[in-house]
Amino acid sequence: MRRSEYIGLAERLLEHEANNTTDSAEDTYTVPVADYLDEARWNNEMEAIFKRLPLMLAYTDELREPGSYKTIEAVGVPVLITRGKDGMVHAFLNVCSHRGAAVVTDECGTASRFMCPYHGWTFNDQGALIGVADKHKFGEVDTEAKGLKELACEERGGLIFVVLTPGVPMDIEAHLGGMLDEIESLGIENWHIYKQVELPGANWKVCYDGYLEGYHFATLHTNTIFTFSANNIMAYDSYGPHQRIGFPHHNLGELRTKPQEEWETGEGMSVIRTLFPHVSMAGSDQGGLISQLIPGPTPEQSRTIQTYIYAMQPSTDEERAAMDASVEMTVGAVRDEDYATGFGIQKGMSTGANEEFTFGKNELGLHKFHQWVNFYAEGKPESERPNP
Ligand SMILES: [Fe+2]
Repeated sequence: MRRSEYIGLAERLLEHEANNTTDSAEDTYTVPVADYLDEARWNNEMEAIFKRLPLMLAYTDELREPGSYKTIEAVGVPVLITRGKDGMVHAFLNVCSHRGAAVVTDECGTASRFMCPYHGWTFNDQGALIGVADKHKFGEVDTEAKGLKELACEERGGLIFVVLTPGVPMDIEAHLGGMLDEIESLGIENWHIYKQVELPGANWKVCYDGYLEGYHFATLHTNTIFTFSANNIMAYDSYGPHQRIGFPHHNLGELRTKPQEEWETGEGMSVIRTLFPHVSMAGSDQGGLISQLIPGPTPEQSRTIQTYIYAMQPSTDEERAAMDASVEMTVGAVRDEDYATGFGIQKGMSTGANEEFTFGKNELGLHKFHQWVNFYAEGKPESERPNP
């Protein structure tokens, strides 16, 4: 985080802490519970949001070398991401142009060409069809037209973004807006993955809601997050549909005991950034947890790929043990506290006990998130674009 940004956040949080206040909305905000349950609505969210907006599907660290690749399935779409010999990232539907089989069946590796396991048609790392098995028996093939279907793909600040629908372009600068500078200031392109964990979850919005407020820290996370982070105080900023929330730690007040020049950037707070529609980034300039939330296969289900990624890898047994303990605490907090509660919410919603949920003024991040989901999923006109 840039120094000036940190100082601004710290000053705002110190004031909130002193007055027991928080950044908040003018009023409460209500959403129908049906918006979480309705299948047609969910399909609109998948089509209008997940299949058209840039999704963060890979890290630079997963595809460092030319020739490296990874596969991932997101909302039912199998994707192959490669780094070509030119050093550029490319994404394709992982679907053979012959009979539709998955061309690459392993999760990651290094290869300059990919042979479909069904009939042996072969593609290069730019997706071009370069080999048809027994071509003299097969007959004419328009190899130019039979490459893998390419998807828009861009790499920014250590993150690789893909649009899941062929032919839908990506303007990543326009999409990320002011959040691009925030991401680039972290230097994620130099971080290395320490561990990845996949967690099952309830409806994607039920899960995502939990990343957007600190109102539940003292109650749900009594023995985990709340051991270091204060409850229900935030410094909130949004950049279009993307959000940045500063949460004060219990020791934030120590900043008052020393001159501002001695404040270490990041000291006394956690910063959670979300990239609409499906990423949450928690941690410091030295790394932390990045979560990729992927809806489906039904409205009641999602999965989250947690990536623990850091600027420095532990080099001693002691450092490794400390990092493992921190990872274990965080996995436990999300899996056993947030996501376990999410499964309960899913069940609770289906009982019909609540027709609507009201988000408090203090749950401002949820207001914004749902306004943006509505804007896209309901196909609202530009004139109704939410305030940034
Ligand atoms: Fe939580």
